[in-house]
Amino acid sequence: MKTKSERIIIFDTTLRDGEQCPGATLNIDEKLTIAKQLARLGVDVIEAGFAFASPGDFEAVNKIAQTVGTENGPIICSLARARQEDIKAAAEAIKPAAKGRIHTFIATSDIHLKYKLKRTRQEVLAIAQEMVAYAKQFTNDVEFSPEDAGRSDPEFLYEVLERAIAAGATTVNIPDTVGYTTPSEFGALIKGIKENVPNIDKAIISVHGHNDLGMAVANFLEAVKNGARQLECTINGIGERAGNAALEELVMALYVRRQYFNPFLGRPVDSEEPLTNIDTKQIYRTSRLVSNLTGMLVQPNKAIVGANAFAHESGIHQDGVLKNKLTYEIMDARLIGLTENQIVLGKHSGRNAFRTRLRELGYELTETELNQAFVRFKEIADKKKEITDWDLQAIVNDEIQQA
Ligand code: KIV
Ligand code: ZN
Repeated sequence: MKTKSERIIIFDTTLRDGEQCPGATLNIDEKLTIAKQLARLGVDVIEAGFAFASPGDFEAVNKIAQTVGTENGPIICSLARARQEDIKAAAEAIKPAAKGRIHTFIATSDIHLKYKLKRTRQEVLAIAQEMVAYAKQFTNDVEFSPEDAGRSDPEFLYEVLERAIAAGATTVNIPDTVGYTTPSEFGALIKGIKENVPNIDKAIISVHGHNDLGMAVANFLEAVKNGARQLECTINGIGERAGNAALEELVMALYVRRQYFNPFLGRPVDSEEPLTNIDTKQIYRTSRLVSNLTGMLVQPNKAIVGANAFAHESGIHQDGVLKNKLTYEIMDARLIGLTENQIVLGKHSGRNAFRTRLRELGYELTETELNQAFVRFKEIADKKKEITDWDLQAIVNDEIQQA
């Protein structure tokens, strides 16, 4: 049985921070479909939403807690500002989950204190401590985030974190809210926290970061080297502005370079054991599912899941790969669940190919749903030369919603 210090905790926030990007709004059924796939992917924590934000958000968190938050499933988390009404809504929404977490936050940078919160540092210290203690009444699993930590005064940050831990925070998350820090700075920030917060060993250090300067993943990897043990990320890196750290990039960096990262976790250097609990074979289908349901296209040259990530165009590269894949490939495409031969679906395709492609897209249908969807697929295939993933998604959504 792996312990929390042995493996890096993957906290997925696709349904909360990821959904906070323009145009990516998801309905409750779509959120549930994604949450089920995230559970298959093996994420440790699903941040399912911000329960107080709207009745729809509350219902989504609550339904995910009921359906996906099983004993062996992931922890289901709701975000809450450091306010009683937010925390109460979060607590109520996550109640059905076997393992529920409340994630409460308040900003700590002087810019946020002065212009947004209009609070003093002393006030923020008191609120952080009180609200973590308040959240503790509902669940033992409380995460605290000092928002805009990346631009906060480290000395003040240490004090806030110490107060949050004293009040019972079991995870302290360090957000680079505006994607401002560089990898060496962010690594040093985590090191400083480890060295200067007296009771830091009572909590897990988590990191959360945005991609405004394209450095979120690099920042996280430096954070891991300096003691971070939970990574907050989204599928395809979707999220506010330039997005969040991309789950697939983090997981595959930690997998492909596991021997490099192993010593930082106090493991044997030659260990082949993965550093996360993610089933990497589910990565591609999860990426497709999130892209299809949010309508957020994946750029072709996107690392790991882009259409060109495993394609070789130049003659020299093709020649090298034909002789030995290792010449130009650092990982096998099958590791992320891609099959060698992409099946093209058309009117001659059978049920098995249909079912296989749906699985690759993250849809697990019952036999009845599959039969209905297959009839519809054949009708459309008679009229179109090739059936795209968009067609398949429309077919499945129609059939599931009618059922
Ligand atoms: O970016 C951020 O600071 C956040 C917090 C609420 C964790 O999303
Ligand atoms: Zn964020």
